[in-house]
This record gives sequence, structure tokens and C-alpha cells, in this order.
Amino acid sequence: LTLYLPLDSAAVALGADELADALVREADKRKLDLKIVRTGSRGMHWLEPLVEVEKDGKRIGYGPVDEGDTASLLDAVMGDGKHEKSVGAVEEIPFFKNQTRLIFGRCGVIDPLSVEDYEKHGGNAGLDKALKMDSAAICEEVFESGLRGRGGAGFPAGIKWRTVAGAEADQKYIVVNADEGDSGTFADRMIMEGDPFILIEGMTIAGVAVGATEGYIYLRSEYPVAARVLNDAIADARKAGLLGENVRGSGKAFDIEVFIGAGAYICGEETSLLNSLEGKRGEVRSKPPLPALEGLFGKPTLVHNVISLCSVPAILEKGAKFYRDYGMGKSTGTMPFQIAGNVKHGGLYETAFGLKLRELVEDIGGGTLNGRPVRAVQIGGPLGAYLSPRLFDLEMDYETMAANGAGVGHGGIVIYDDSVNLLEQARYAFEFCVEESCGKCTPCRVGSVRGVEIMDRIKEGVEHGKNVDVLEDLCELMVDGSLCAMGGMTPIPVQSAVKHFPEDFGIKPAKQAAE
Ligand code: NAI
Ligand code: SF4
Repeated sequence: LTLYLPLDSAAVALGADELADALVREADKRKLDLKIVRTGSRGMHWLEPLVEVEKDGKRIGYGPVDEGDTASLLDAVMGDGKHEKSVGAVEEIPFFKNQTRLIFGRCGVIDPLSVEDYEKHGGNAGLDKALKMDSAAICEEVFESGLRGRGGAGFPAGIKWRTVAGAEADQKYIVVNADEGDSGTFADRMIMEGDPFILIEGMTIAGVAVGATEGYIYLRSEYPVAARVLNDAIADARKAGLLGENVRGSGKAFDIEVFIGAGAYICGEETSLLNSLEGKRGEVRSKPPLPALEGLFGKPTLVHNVISLCSVPAILEKGAKFYRDYGMGKSTGTMPFQIAGNVKHGGLYETAFGLKLRELVEDIGGGTLNGRPVRAVQIGGPLGAYLSPRLFDLEMDYETMAANGAGVGHGGIVIYDDSVNLLEQARYAFEFCVEESCGKCTPCRVGSVRGVEIMDRIKEGVEHGKNVDVLEDLCELMVDGSLCAMGGMTPIPVQSAVKHFPEDFGIKPAKQAAE
């Protein structure tokens, strides 16, 4: 008997490891030959730990399963399959079925540490194509696909690739930003734990394209499972000739090392990440020079988010046009949205850009877990905007979000019910900045502290009108004067909270028509 059970951190946090042990014990008792394949997660977190078994070519799921269910579960899978926790064919669950999984297609299906499984499910097809192309043609394919950086800024990947490819240097690097620090985000972690070879493939294609022979994955220390899986996968990739001096017999060299961060949010900013990787303090560098020209150890460096690079194999395999046909306008391809907070069906939903926020929150997410009305969502991490349900008909793409003072960010959506107080949330934005500021520039280092003080005065009603004006000035100063997005974007949650939820700040609501 083969059962599939995630090794994913979310499933482990919900008891997947204990469940695996209990299943083995129960199988031993029955003298049953049981094999448990530890997969990635399907991204339906409310069903974790989700146990799957293959029947008539379909994966049948049971979840959430706990240790107390082991005997009845084995009875069911050895018998007629009926069990109160059966969810039927996993890929037919609406949350899963309606997705477009160009990145996460294998996640939850394969053994993340089997090169054979990876290739049986289409893995390395993009790399094989890339190895037959010249550098400029690969960069062109990425450019034509319209892929934009998934870390938050949405910068066209093809332009970055061309810049690094065109730079003359004796050494170039690929650096993966896996310092996924935004609240409510877990896409990077899920793919690294559930399908690490897709990242290795994307990095190798990038290395071949821009002429880099060394790659680093800067991984946050809070992801020990991802660290283990990645290191094992890299070792396996070397053994399989996918990394090393002669990648797949092409004569091209590329290798990867995992570097563990030390817990600073600011190391998700690319230049402080590079400083940290060089063994220096994680402090932001001024740009220019761009990392594409002078990055790690002063060499041309392609810095990308995990998901950006994991989007590349499909682009090379299926072509730029195939990829560009997903999405809308200048937001092409798919985005793994991460639905979190107070929500019934939290998890990861990969889809083409253009879905309405309402669909994600209400239809797919199913509203709040406790049944209270949704009052606010924050999109794009702690520096993202708070939006009210009046804006839920906005489409989730870079341009629409930007036009409404928000951003897609890294695709994280945190849902709040009507008990949330937006003044407290705005205060928290400043507090977060106080904690995480690298301290290099004054608007951020000092402005965030002043921000907390002003919020307290507004809360206490001290010189209310004056302090509301000062808050506005402070936000403007931080946006205009900060060196990086940390200080520059902290005003976004604050200003959006004031704009969409003025009543929480004791401000008379202005006409909402402008929204
Ligand atoms: P940016 O717009 O300065 O740069 C985006 C990327 O494009 C960078 O890698 C940059 O080096 C590159 N780039 C820009 N111009 C280029 C050119 N002409 N040629 C080649 N490459 C070029 O944005 P930045 O400061 O890197 O990031 C800001 C964004 O990061 C924000 O929009 C925010 O959404 C996001 N963010 C994400 C966080 C996370 O944890 N994922 C945390 C904080 C902010
Ligand atoms: Fe450092 Fe903040 Fe200035 Fe960024 S904005 S450089 S985090 S002090």
C-alpha cells in the first residue's frame, strides 16, 4: 500500500509527522507493507494533513487526518474507500480544479526528492531546450513571455536577464531571494519543499542564459524543512549530472549553494541580501549601481525571487507565446496567490492574473473562518495596502492594483473580519518598520518611531486634527525620502487604512464615490 502525505511545513505543523509515525505503527500491527511518500502540499491548508491514495488512476484524499484516524483510515483505503474524512478525488475539489498550475503542477503529486519523478512529470524539458539555445535567444524568450519579477516590484525579468547577460565579467552569479518575510506568504516555501527541482531547473536556465556559473539560494532561517529538502535535492542533482562542471553533458557549468539568513526582514531587499551573503551587516546599498551590473562581490548578479525563477521552465518548455496568453495586459502568466488570515479555505491558489479580489476572498477563500463579515484585506505583506470590500471588484493584476494605491506584492492576501481596528493595524505598520529598519536613512529610522507616537496621539484624541495632518506629512516624507521600499512603503498600509477606514481614526468619512 502506498500513501501520500505532505512533508510541507504547514502539514507538519498540523501533525503530519506524528501521523506518519502512527500510520507506520498501525501498518506494522497489521503486518501491512506500507510505503508513505512524503510529498509537497496541494495548498489546501484546511485539509492538512491530507492523506492521498491512488485508485483507478486518481488520487483520493482524506483530510484533515489525525493520529486517532489511523485505524479507520487503513480500513477504508484497504476496503471500499468510505470514510467520514474522505474528500473524494483531490484534483476535482473546486479549489484545486479551477487553478492554472504552471508552477505548482507537480507540488503535492511527486516525491520532491526524486529526479525520476520530476522528469516523469515533465521536469527538465525547459532546461533541455535552453541547453540547445544560445544565451541571447533564452533571454529573448523570457523577455517575450512578459514575465515580471514576483518578489513585489514586478520589474520585467527579460530586461534584467539581458542586462546581466550583456555585462562583461570573469564571474557572474544567480542569487535567489528566498527570504520570504511577508506576512501571509508561503509560496516560495511551498515550492521549495514540494518541488525543489523546478527551482534548480529555473536557476540553471538562468545561469546558462546570462553566463553565470554559481548560484546562491538565500533562504530564511525560519524554513528548516525547505533547507533540508533543497540541500538534498542539490546533492541529488549533482549526482544526476544536472549540476556541476558539465550540466547534462552540455559542457556548461553551474552549481548551487544554500545560504541561511539570520532573521532580518530587510534582507529580503536585494542589496541588503547581497551584503548579508557577503558576510556583512544586512544594510541596504544605494542603487545605482544595479546588482545586475555590480551585485554579489561586485560582480554582475541576477537576483530573482523563487517564484520568478520557477516560472522559467514552463516558458522555455512551452514557449513565450504560450505563457503570455495567460493573464491580462502587462501582467502575463500565472501568480500563486496565498490566501491567509481569518479565512475558511486558506491556502495557495495559482491562477492567471485578472481574477477579481472578490473571487479570491469570497468564492475561493469562502469568507472568514468564524463566519463574521470580512471588513478588510491586506495585499502584499506588511507594507501592502488595506482594502475594504468596496474595492473587491478590482482585478488582481499589477496595473489595476497600482492604480488603486495597492500592489500585488508577492501575492499574499490576509483577510480580517469586522473586529479589526485599522488604527491599530496602521500603528503596527510603523512598529514593524521600527523593528525591521536597517537604520541607514533617517526618514525610515526616525520616521517610523515618530509614526508610532503620532498614532498613539491620534488614538488618545490629543490634538487630533493637527496630528492627522502631521501623519500625512510624515507619510509623504517617508515615501519621498527613504532609500528603499521598507521606509518608502510603510506609509502604504497607513494611508490606505486612513483612506478606506477613516472612522477608525476618528475622521469623518469623505465621500466614497472617488473609490
Ligand atoms: P526596484 O523597482 O528598484 O527593482 C526591481 C528589480 O529590478 C530589482 O531586482 C532591480 O535590481 C531590478 N532593476 C531595476 N531596474 C533595472 C534595470 N534597468 N536593469 C536591470 N535590472 C533592473 O524594486 P526593489 O527595491 O528591488 O523592490 C521593491 C519592491 O519589493 C516593492 O515593490 C515591494 O513590493 C517589494 N518588497 C518585497 C518584499 C518581500 O519580502 N518579498 C519586502 C519588501 C518589499
Ligand atoms: Fe534602511 Fe529603512 Fe532606509 Fe531602507 S528605508 S535603507 S530599511 S533605513
